[in-house]
Amino acid sequence: MADLQPVDLRSDTVTKPTAGMRAAIAAAEVGDDVFGEDPTVNELHRRAASLLGKEAALFVPSGTMANLLAFVSQSRPGDTVILHADSHPFNYESGGLGMVAGVLTKTLPGAHGILEPERVRAAVVRNEDHHYSHTTLVGIENTTNRGGGAFYPLRIVEEIAAIARENGMRLHCDGARLFNAVVASGTSAAGYARHCDTVSFCFSKGLGAPAGSVLVGDRATIDRAHRYRKMLGGGMRQAGVLAAAALYALDHHIERLAEDHLRARRFRQALEGIPQIGFPLPSPTNIVFLEVPDALACVGHCADCGVFMLPVSSTRVRAVFHLDIDDAGVDRAIAAVRDAAIAIR
Ligand SMILES: Cc1ncc(COP(=O)(O)O)c(C=O)c1O
Repeated sequence: MADLQPVDLRSDTVTKPTAGMRAAIAAAEVGDDVFGEDPTVNELHRRAASLLGKEAALFVPSGTMANLLAFVSQSRPGDTVILHADSHPFNYESGGLGMVAGVLTKTLPGAHGILEPERVRAAVVRNEDHHYSHTTLVGIENTTNRGGGAFYPLRIVEEIAAIARENGMRLHCDGARLFNAVVASGTSAAGYARHCDTVSFCFSKGLGAPAGSVLVGDRATIDRAHRYRKMLGGGMRQAGVLAAAALYALDHHIERLAEDHLRARRFRQALEGIPQIGFPLPSPTNIVFLEVPDALACVGHCADCGVFMLPVSSTRVRAVFHLDIDDAGVDRAIAAVRDAAIAIR
């Protein structure tokens, strides 16, 4: 066991650059991107904007910064932003919405992290009465992280976009795992983006790059985001080394996400029927949540077998499938969880 590679299912952010990606990084032409002179970053901006059918794109260090820039660029302090109660910006981005964007958040329930259009409509406040904060932005997450990797049906995005438009509001899509949604749903990235004012997506998750996300939208919004990126310290100099990894990921790592989805399904199916293990959410993409009697005991037992998963509550464990997990890794993960189920019963 000791000489086996760990099977790290804690997150799809743990991937290491492949040999091909490392070669692309080594060969990258670079310049000072704060002067707008990095040719590889500029190429990435063109590619990302064109892939999503938008005017402009901005490369940023993280998904958190991409979301924050979307919020600060499309709202004013004191405005209200509608988000799902399970959304990443509300739960896991250190309160940047409050501290940096200065907005109020109205969080809504909805199965699997998906916002329900009628609840969104009911939550909007566009009232000239000075008592009220204006609702200026809706944020959706596609796929949903805490919702088990669920993807938005296009029809729901269209309906939420129509509500946003009727009320003079903006729609932002946190597409940290947008391409998992694209591959699972058959809806193109541009098909989703058409209904959104801004979309962010991450290169550092299923796409397998070491860092970086992008925010796309109309030119005026992305210009504002560019100013805020500078303000927040997100201007990177020879960022072409990272942009080269991102371009490589766009060329080589999108279609293969289907393999991660298949492996997630195989893992789940192999464990269904074990009495100590429940599945609180569907797993349509690369994320599987397990419900167990004792999450720490389960995770600890699996870690002893070289299989790493993330406890997300006292009874819930997350396993995420990605580029660095092959079929043998899935087999080891299944065996480890089966063993743990016997041990913790
Ligand atoms: C849905 C979602 N949005 C945003 C982020 C933030 O990305 P980053 O870790 O690059 O800041 C994550 C990270 O896991 C995420 O899952």
